[in-house]
Amino acid sequence: MTTSGSIAIRAKIFHFLSPDEYVFFEDGLLIVERGFVSRLGNYSELSAEIPHECMYIDERDKWIFPGFIDGHIHAVQTRVIASFGADLLQWLENYTFPAEKLFEDENYAQLETDFFFSQMLKNGTTTAAIYTSVHAQSLKAVMNKAASLNMRIMAGKTNMDRNAPPDLCEETAATFSQTEMFIQEYEGKHRLEYILTPRFAITSSHEQMLHLQELNKKFPHIKVQTHLSENHAEINETLKLFPEAKDYLGVYESYGLVNSGTLLGHAIHLSDTEWERVREHKASLIHCPTSNLFLGSGLFNLQKALDMGIPVGLGSDIGAGTSFSMLQTAAAAYQVAALRGQKTDAFKLFYLITLGGAKALGVEQKIGSFLPGKEADFLVLNPMADTMLSKKISVECSLHDKLFSFIFLGNEQIVDSVYLMGNRVI
Ligand code: GUN
Ligand code: ZN
Repeated sequence: MTTSGSIAIRAKIFHFLSPDEYVFFEDGLLIVERGFVSRLGNYSELSAEIPHECMYIDERDKWIFPGFIDGHIHAVQTRVIASFGADLLQWLENYTFPAEKLFEDENYAQLETDFFFSQMLKNGTTTAAIYTSVHAQSLKAVMNKAASLNMRIMAGKTNMDRNAPPDLCEETAATFSQTEMFIQEYEGKHRLEYILTPRFAITSSHEQMLHLQELNKKFPHIKVQTHLSENHAEINETLKLFPEAKDYLGVYESYGLVNSGTLLGHAIHLSDTEWERVREHKASLIHCPTSNLFLGSGLFNLQKALDMGIPVGLGSDIGAGTSFSMLQTAAAAYQVAALRGQKTDAFKLFYLITLGGAKALGVEQKIGSFLPGKEADFLVLNPMADTMLSKKISVECSLHDKLFSFIFLGNEQIVDSVYLMGNRVI
């Protein structure tokens, strides 16, 4: 194992240069120097040029992909996964808020956060946009864990000051100063970004939204993440609480929170004008298919988002989502699209969890592919580690069909190793 981040690794290697352009090396070599991609090519052409300081690793029967990107995940909901029988608002009240309340205990926050990161990494997720609980210790635990792993993440302390149990509501007056302190402490340090995180319109008062608007003005490069139009009861409640807003998106717009650095989770039930405005603002949509199926929230229109040129990422949305695996999440995206009469090919799905996800999160200059100079986050998949996948993949078939099998049959089992900036962490 290296800690210098300098390796040369031989494998089948796949990545995207753009949505429509992928590169595949059947016998490839990826050279990483001091954490950054240096060269990628055919093994036979590059092997003579491996720099002396690089450790050589032979994984020639395995597959390398850029690290998977989870565009929407809650670090404080691991124990909520598979909670029976509720739709969004009851699920929040009955299962989710009680689970998040446990994070007031610093020790618990630490242990749960460690488990959360190990689950992400074991599944090949190397970057995520993360919601913590309302507690400072939850945010700190996430930021410190990511820093110690040298993992690229964006995370925000969830802001809530109403319509949640009183001990999960923060002092409205503290929103600005506390968030500013977090931005100063974490933003741009290691590989961390602070992201403004109003949970959703229902749980933030007008005054809290104004504080977030001020922060957004003061720190215009800071991104924003929130939930939008996931469920009909949620939409109705939102419009009751913000009677002046013309629609759900209009609430966030009225506080200046929708722009090219905004990640909107779900966005299932948008009107035509909301779709159009999402595009105009250049905001990103994060599709969370396992969550939407689990809570029965509805079927996101992925094809429409792609046709409109809106940046889209996929999110596990743990704990309404049912799997940390972005392969399983991509499989669910295929199924949701199929229920709408749309077919999403394996290339598109792999794009969404690698370079496309990086674009949606605004980090495509740094990660998402193996262009020289990018941070070398990647995973090694071993299809032979799963009996069904190994059977399926050994049958003569196209690259597309192999990738499609990875999506439907892949799981934590086949993630052989995971590297962050050239250093192996799994
Ligand atoms: N809307 C507001 N909070 C949440 C949450 O924690 N999960 C999901 N899926 N939707 C939400
Ligand atoms: Zn969510």
